[in-house]
Amino acid sequence: MAMPHNKTEEDITAEVLQRFEQTPDPRLRQIMLGLIKHLHAFVKEVELTEAEWFQAIEILTEAGRMCTDKRQEFILFSDTLGVSMVVDLIAHRKPDGATESTVFGPFHRLGAPELPAGGNIARLDKAGPPTLVSGRVLNLDDEPIEGALLDVWQAQSSGLYDSQDESLNELHMRGKFRSDAEGRYLVRTVLPVNYPIPSDGPVGRMLRATGRHPWRPAHIHFVISADGYEPVTTHIFDRTDPYLGSDAVFAVKDSLICDFVRHESAAGEAVRLGIDPPYYTAEFDFRLKPAAEQRTNVLDAQRRLAALGARAAE
Ligand code: BEZ
Ligand code: FE
Repeated sequence: MAMPHNKTEEDITAEVLQRFEQTPDPRLRQIMLGLIKHLHAFVKEVELTEAEWFQAIEILTEAGRMCTDKRQEFILFSDTLGVSMVVDLIAHRKPDGATESTVFGPFHRLGAPELPAGGNIARLDKAGPPTLVSGRVLNLDDEPIEGALLDVWQAQSSGLYDSQDESLNELHMRGKFRSDAEGRYLVRTVLPVNYPIPSDGPVGRMLRATGRHPWRPAHIHFVISADGYEPVTTHIFDRTDPYLGSDAVFAVKDSLICDFVRHESAAGEAVRLGIDPPYYTAEFDFRLKPAAEQRTNVLDAQRRLAALGARAAE
């Protein structure tokens, strides 16, 4: 159907939608039609001015320029706008006993060393209280999964990730661990702290302009994978943290909150590992569900993203 040339706001939306109607891939067609419908409706609802439109282009350009292998401003936008968590919740709608997932965040790095059980990911962090995180990797019948890979990362006790810390030029607070025949894992680290997400770019300006704080509650990141199971990207959070109810990236789920218990005298693994009190322990069991063949592999997507960052740094 020929479209009129003296277009109204409705005409232009209808014409754009019509051009995308012929998209051969049905899923891409659905996404593009939905995107145009909502994007145009948003622009019309707020009556976006030319200056505001130009400002949006500048913000996106600045976000793109900031992205390197160490900084991912678009993930930060997605996280702080709550989009990452909506995508996560759609992907995992029904509670099924498996460990719940949460945001991947922008601070994962490839190449973390594989460490033995009890290996210390915080060897350069002398300020944080020593902490042992242990538990089991299980299937949905509570049977142990042997050989599961736990990719762990965390901010230093300064609140900075290694990639943000200019005094460091090596990987730190990162390690990969394997579960044993009973599904057990043991990670030595320091007590996680709450920290502000990077606020020196457009995301920080958005938070300040909208009266939002940038803080994340104390947590440790995990990606857990095992043959035949769906990988899970998640965190464990410290139950005592004051920001649990106002995480800047909306990533807290009740089932991921965990007790970090303080000990004044050494016992058990702490003795074997030569850890002097005071120290903390946290216990958390991860449950994986069987792999669903047709599901997009989240880990592959994350690896592609990491590779994109590495290329940006070249
Ligand atoms: C993080 O926990 O590392 C993180 C997640 C989302 C945005 C910023 C940081
Ligand atoms: Fe984090």
